Amino acid sequence: MTLHSDLSSNPIAQAKRLAAEKAIEYVEDGAVIGVGTGSTVAFFIEALGHIRQRIAGAVSSSEQSSLQLRQLGIEVLDLNSAGPLPLYVDGADECDPHKRLIKGGGAALTREKIIAQASKRFICIIDAGKRVDVLGRFPLPIEVVPMARSLVAREIVAQTGGQPVWREGVVTDNGNWVLDIHGLKITDPVAMETALNQITGVVSVGLFARRPADIVIIGGKTAELM
Ligand code: 5RP
Repeated sequence: MTLHSDLSSNPIAQAKRLAAEKAIEYVEDGAVIGVGTGSTVAFFIEALGHIRQRIAGAVSSSEQSSLQLRQLGIEVLDLNSAGPLPLYVDGADECDPHKRLIKGGGAALTREKIIAQASKRFICIIDAGKRVDVLGRFPLPIEVVPMARSLVAREIVAQTGGQPVWREGVVTDNGNWVLDIHGLKITDPVAMETALNQITGVVSVGLFARRPADIVIIGGKTAELM
């Protein structure tokens, strides 16, 4: 694919590919695989295409990933009929030492969170540049019901002191909008996720702390496990 051949000439893309290919080792025969969204996951889907006869299908977190899966001949299943999944593989925008994540740079956070919650094992695939000691350098994405955008933004300023910026022009696969909160230093990610989830009009919060990753595969010169 054009996207991949362009990306494969740069070291970050190579690191993403390495992490994604390592994750294939965790795919069990006959399983339905939960699939995230983003450029790292695109490498995972590509690798999944090579073993498509071994799996029963995939549950996808976005229209973008569904399209790539179908193009490679992998059946995309509805989570309601697939039931609990053995494995979910997804990327992240930031990862702390406790495997807590910021996600949603690709605006797919809500479906990603649902599939992560429905899965026994969540493997996060990242390049080494995504590792941080404290989450918050990457602006925290929040999916909001459109009519509540300003209401939620005001509440976020009051609660966190962060600066919400509307990701103008972006509409999620669920028909909602995204606010990115800048200037946060998230020292207690579970508490912040819990508090922000309570704001009326918030659909989901791009903090994956209550349900962190189980395994993080970090691509660099090699693929390392955290
Ligand atoms: C999409 C996500 C992605 O996992 C995250 O943005 C990382 O993307 P990439 O693999 O392209 O760096 O959360 O909503």
